[in-house]
Amino acid sequence: MEKTLTLKEYVKKNDKEIAGLIVKMADIAERISQELPYRRGKADTKNVFGETQLVADKWTDKFIIGEFRKSRLVKTMKSEEQGEIVKLNDNGIFNITLDPLDGSSNMKSNNLVGTIFGIYKKDLPTQGKNQIGAAYILYGPVMSLVYATKNSVNKFFYTKKGFILKQKNIKLPEPGILYGIGGLRKDWLPKFRKYIEGLEAKGYKLRYGGSFVGDFNQVLHYGGIFAYPALINKPNGKLRLSAESNPMSYIIKQAGGASTNGAGSILDIEPESINQRIPTYVGNKGLIKNLEKIL
Ligand code: AHG
Ligand code: MN
Ligand code: MN
Repeated sequence: MEKTLTLKEYVKKNDKEIAGLIVKMADIAERISQELPYRRGKADTKNVFGETQLVADKWTDKFIIGEFRKSRLVKTMKSEEQGEIVKLNDNGIFNITLDPLDGSSNMKSNNLVGTIFGIYKKDLPTQGKNQIGAAYILYGPVMSLVYATKNSVNKFFYTKKGFILKQKNIKLPEPGILYGIGGLRKDWLPKFRKYIEGLEAKGYKLRYGGSFVGDFNQVLHYGGIFAYPALINKPNGKLRLSAESNPMSYIIKQAGGASTNGAGSILDIEPESINQRIPTYVGNKGLIKNLEKIL
């Protein structure tokens, strides 16, 4: 029986270049999970997207940026909660994109929320295909950390002895069985609605939890498709290219799946602005290819 590896052992052995970053993310996760029960309610501010910020959004944003600043590993960060790119260390190596707390609207009901990281060496903003890694933390029921590099996608569970390796080299199961779609059905574009009705007719199961990180995680484990699509009244959908869609598109690609904004891989999109939204569809390659044909 193989010895269970700790996150630190695994990442130092397999992804040395970003080991320091991933270990720092694990420390950050532990502290955030301890703070979330207390950081509740609405703050009295809005972010650059005009969304009312929660106390937890602001606290996690400030905490994570502070921790990476102290680590001296990070040159700049672009957080969903900050309108501009934040400078941390002139001689830092990495540039990080951040959604400090994804799924904030789930906080009231204690549904799944998480943190999403994109890891670059190139200066931001840049295409998602320039990521050298991506990761997300899921706060519960068992706190998990998933990270991907060009080598593989790996999952770790938090235990009283810290994060341990649970699954390595995760690949999307074929065929998928789930679908989860954001926005209101009445606002989906007719062609997209027809595509989804086709999946329903084939028996795909609806799983929608209201946080990208939680809904993405389900597709990663069961296969299928998650989308926050272009809507009639919001042609760019809701998800942010840099903080949300690029990191998850990187992870799904390393797991053998694909992403699209309707026309082509999200990872190829040349950012027009650092706060750009993008229609986001991720899942099994076959499903994404079929979707592109009908869109
Ligand atoms: P965030 O909490 O970081 O703003 O992200 C919320 C996003 C994403 O997590 C989720 O897929 C989507 O908002 C849900 O939007 P609706 O509430 O419109 O369904
Ligand atoms: Mn988010
Ligand atoms: Mn967020």
